[in-house]
Amino acid sequence: MSIHAETRRLTTRDIRAKKRSGEKLAMLTAYDHVTAGLLDQAGIDMLLVGDSLGNVVLGYETTIPVTLDDMIRHAAAVQRGSRRALVVCDLPFGAATDPDTALRSAVAVMQHSGVQAIKIEGGVAAAPIVRRLVEQGIAVMAHIGLTPQSVHQLGGYYRHGKSEDAAQALIDAAKALEAAGAFAIVLEMVVPELAADITAMLEIPTIGIGSGPDCAGQVLVLNDLIGLGLKPPPSFAKPKADVATIVRDAASAYIAEVKAREPQRD
Ligand code: KIV
Repeated sequence: MSIHAETRRLTTRDIRAKKRSGEKLAMLTAYDHVTAGLLDQAGIDMLLVGDSLGNVVLGYETTIPVTLDDMIRHAAAVQRGSRRALVVCDLPFGAATDPDTALRSAVAVMQHSGVQAIKIEGGVAAAPIVRRLVEQGIAVMAHIGLTPQSVHQLGGYYRHGKSEDAAQALIDAAKALEAAGAFAIVLEMVVPELAADITAMLEIPTIGIGSGPDCAGQVLVLNDLIGLGLKPPPSFAKPKADVATIVRDAASAYIAEVKAREPQRD
């Protein structure tokens, strides 16, 4: 494994240039300082402080209870831990309901965490929100397809873009978000052929999760990549490690060692 020690942080221009040159973009979530540092040393292009924080770290069933303060606290830790990756922070549920609210939320995240970009879930209706932030000099990553903050309105977690109308709605959303100034767009659980078509239609990079191999980049929840969780990962995530077993085994060995110690006599 190579350790990347560059100190210059990647910018949105670098990300766009990588897409133009045909280099695939690698993005992972991070929620804390140490993990951010390790992923940075490994050479990750972008770190996402996702509101998956709610499921993965805070133990909620959905991302809905995650607050702006939660996001700022963890984004600041990731920012401190990384030196090279472009750091993107999600605006959580309720923090981007209209352009003014989104701007206030994004300003708070940028000023108190130091991250370089904001991510917002939503289709065509999110375009005016993206435009407002971009006009104020904020780099925005869009997010369409499965948008977990809308899980109850969507009626569950499933693949998007299966019907002709649904596919057209995603194409329209992707184009509107690009026109609004997003520098990249996450395609979550989008039919792979449609994700490939959208990727070909846009200048900005698409970052896929569960959307096939033909996006300009890929993002994964770190815990799904390293096998660190209490539940099995989604089927599209192919874990490259089994950290849960390493943690359980180390804890078992420690417990056994402590329990086996002879009582000390004075
Ligand atoms: O919150 C998150 O981790 C995300 C990714 C799954 C794209 O939005």
